[in-house]
Amino acid sequence: MKFHRINSLEDYKAQYQRSVENPEAFWDDIAKTFTWQKPYTKVLQWDFQHPSIQWFADGELNITENCLDRHLPHKANQTALVFEPNDPSQKVRTYTYAELHQEVMNFSQVLLNQGVLKGDRVCIYMGMVPELTIAVLACARIGAIHSVIFGGFSAQSITDRIIDAQAEFVITQDAAYRGNKIIPLKPVIDDALLKCDFVQKVIVLTHAKEPVNMLKGRDIWWEEEMELVGKANVPPAIMNAEDPLFILYTSGSTGKPKGVVHTCGGYMVWANYTFEQVFQYQENELHFCTADIGWITGHSYIVYGPLLAGAKTLMFEGIPTYPDAGRFWDIVEKHNVNILYTAPTAIRSLMTFGTGVFEGRDLSSLRVLGTVGEPINEEAWNWYDENVGKKNCPIVDTWWQTETGGVMISNLAGITPSRPAWATLPLPGIQPLLVDEKGIENTEINAETGFVHGNLCIKFPWPGMLRTTYGDHHRCYTNYFATYENLYFTGDGAYRDSEGNYRITGRVDDVLNVSGHRIGTAEVENAINMHVGVVESAVVGYPHDIKGQGIYAFVICTDHTHDKDLIKRDINETISRLIGPIAKADKIQIVSGLPKTRSGKIMRRILRKIAEGELQSLGDTSTLLDPGVVEEIVKFRV
Ligand code: WT7
Repeated sequence: MKFHRINSLEDYKAQYQRSVENPEAFWDDIAKTFTWQKPYTKVLQWDFQHPSIQWFADGELNITENCLDRHLPHKANQTALVFEPNDPSQKVRTYTYAELHQEVMNFSQVLLNQGVLKGDRVCIYMGMVPELTIAVLACARIGAIHSVIFGGFSAQSITDRIIDAQAEFVITQDAAYRGNKIIPLKPVIDDALLKCDFVQKVIVLTHAKEPVNMLKGRDIWWEEEMELVGKANVPPAIMNAEDPLFILYTSGSTGKPKGVVHTCGGYMVWANYTFEQVFQYQENELHFCTADIGWITGHSYIVYGPLLAGAKTLMFEGIPTYPDAGRFWDIVEKHNVNILYTAPTAIRSLMTFGTGVFEGRDLSSLRVLGTVGEPINEEAWNWYDENVGKKNCPIVDTWWQTETGGVMISNLAGITPSRPAWATLPLPGIQPLLVDEKGIENTEINAETGFVHGNLCIKFPWPGMLRTTYGDHHRCYTNYFATYENLYFTGDGAYRDSEGNYRITGRVDDVLNVSGHRIGTAEVENAINMHVGVVESAVVGYPHDIKGQGIYAFVICTDHTHDKDLIKRDINETISRLIGPIAKADKIQIVSGLPKTRSGKIMRRILRKIAEGELQSLGDTSTLLDPGVVEEIVKFRV
């Protein structure tokens, strides 16, 4: 049995209306098409005040039974996973549903043999290799909670996350290939674990054949353990719908990343539902999402969404510019990719290589294009449409977040209209609204723009929403539910037109979006402030042609700093060490003071304007403790 696939704009409207008027019946019809080990009797219980959200609460299931086992009767020999290696001359690896099922069971047995129990947290720090997908699914199969950490994060970031999650098990690989580089992973884990002596086992996959240090009693080889188990038969663990499935850390406006928790039942329904409705996946098509599984996009649209739908999903190990800037298009042609889902920052960076790379490359298999991660500018949208889609593929602009589990606002490929730079309509079940600073709903259309503007909130739960922040439920409340009473606050600003279409303008909090990666300014400031030569710092974003936003750091140094260029490099080295290279500052300005109010608060608004180059509209600076610093900062702007 399958849930109803939206098939026209009218159908969308009818489905949307039903999802608002009768959400429980609406979601019951969808959820019951999945395989439940014990059916649920309650669809939804919720409270945004003392956040508590439960979907299908007394139901029992295992998401891997729905991803794998349930497809075996009719799809055992159909491809599930295609792996395209970093080096195009290396062998492509494919797994049928039967093979993936077997591999997942084998690795599940490895985890069981190591003493991993239901509810244990397992940290996964790997490159984009098929074993990563297998590790994720094996955790889910035995009921362990996976927490994947993106391979670009530093040892310190890993330590913080492993401690926060109290993860006693780690899965990693020797090293990863990235373009012409070899990125060590196991050595980073070794550093990270110096401060995590509670970690019992580290399972190490050999991939790049780099030498690694193996600690006796703690570190074991993936291959050896797999050989020991042979062909295993591990039945799916029985999970309550509200048991945690995974933790994924993401930055917020405070210093410490938070562990967003998704649960088994609701996330499963949402990942599958959104995948099929948004991309309109057709039987036998190949879906290529270019994200890394270290981010939510990879979780939902490389692993869970496609496999739940019985689709073929492609994993790409490398980068879009290796061996040359035509790599994505080579992959499309080589594998006959039908759906391509990528980020505006990737599109903008490929634009700089010109259109010559398209010559002689056949993209005719493409049917649907998607974008995610940040607002897409019209120029990039049009370039994508013309050069990649040949004006023949609908583009879905999908707005969502780590916390939302899956797409929230997007057109549906070929079903509802697309519109450059607009995410357009909310998916069924999603009830957005725009509020002002005080939380009062804004419905008035601005005469000048023709749109309503405000801070984007959601007023009703959906199955894929986060349930808590790991180990600190209060933080979940303060971050998402405390700003506006009875509303989930997204942190984004948006416009809405008279037809109900949304255009997302970006974060309104102290969170930056750099190349589609979410980075909290406080986190970067904390890292900069760790440098011995630094007294204080303030970090803001500014528009960047390729990255969307760049990082601009204003830094006060100690008196004894002589070599300014050296200290700037040192500061970025410190950021790299503490967070990862993705958080390095694009611009660093050494200043003698920061604009502060009389009560000592940094006036970020002014710094943001300076970084953006909006020097005419700095606003009132007379209330500052020392208005002179603004002049100095403007004068020496970088
Ligand atoms: C933030 C969430 C969701 C997967 C990737 C990022 C921004 C995301 C869009 C879009 C405009 C977008 C928002 C959001 N964002 N998609 N289509 N248009 N902005 O997940 O790291 O949790 O970041 O990304 O600002 O809040 P994330």
